[in-house]
Amino acid sequence: IMNVNSYIVPASNHILFHPTDSHDAVMRFNTAPTKGFEADVGSKTTFRLINTMVLTVPAYKFLEDPQYRTGIIIMWDPSQYKESLHKWILKPEFKFFDRFIKLRKKEPDQPFYILNPLNTWQLWDIIQENSPEKIHPDPPSSGTLGILLLMKLCDQVNVYEYLPSKRKMDQCHYFSKGLNPACSLGGYHPLIYEKNMIKKLNQGNDTDIYHYGRITLPGLNGLEC
Ligand SMILES: *[C@@H]1O[C@H](CO)[C@@H](O)[C@H](O)[C@H]1NC(C)=O
Repeated sequence: IMNVNSYIVPASNHILFHPTDSHDAVMRFNTAPTKGFEADVGSKTTFRLINTMVLTVPAYKFLEDPQYRTGIIIMWDPSQYKESLHKWILKPEFKFFDRFIKLRKKEPDQPFYILNPLNTWQLWDIIQENSPEKIHPDPPSSGTLGILLLMKLCDQVNVYEYLPSKRKMDQCHYFSKGLNPACSLGGYHPLIYEKNMIKKLNQGNDTDIYHYGRITLPGLNGLEC
């Protein structure tokens, strides 16, 4: 599982570790590419978790770009806190239906799931319960949503550069030039609270985080509460 908020330096710098392809399944996020970054992020894609903006905004070319035709697509939309499915369907944050129908007609064989928005708020509740302060009800990041989904499906989940390694920098994404420390700690998303919670679940050690940005999480089946 490669977080889109990775702080990975380009392949021309020293590459220590590129282990993602050896996993049974790899989840990628939003517009994150593999082409040109294989040395850092591998090339396998089993799932791609996107928000509705990625499908809806034509500039992302979600219908046209071949990088989006690999793997199972899972999409979520930032609904209002705990609003009903019915209310949300009538008024999603991004009006995605036209593009969604177009894509389904164009690519009927590519699996495509839409998350029930209540799931995002159930996760938000868990983050709030595990945080010392009151959090503004903005939805959790795609990264943390993806972690939860994979913990449901897998016996073990490795996440890379979600908790940044020594390669951390202010670059928002490994594939774009934008600099903003809020990408790591959160502006819109309650990222710092999400990451503190996930760090408590880490079964790996701090050396793994420091060198490889890697954490190891148990599948929910193996978790004793
Ligand atoms: C940390 O965990 C890795 C396995 O992920 C292991 O190889 C390494 O020896 C551990 N390091 C320390 C300092 O415990």
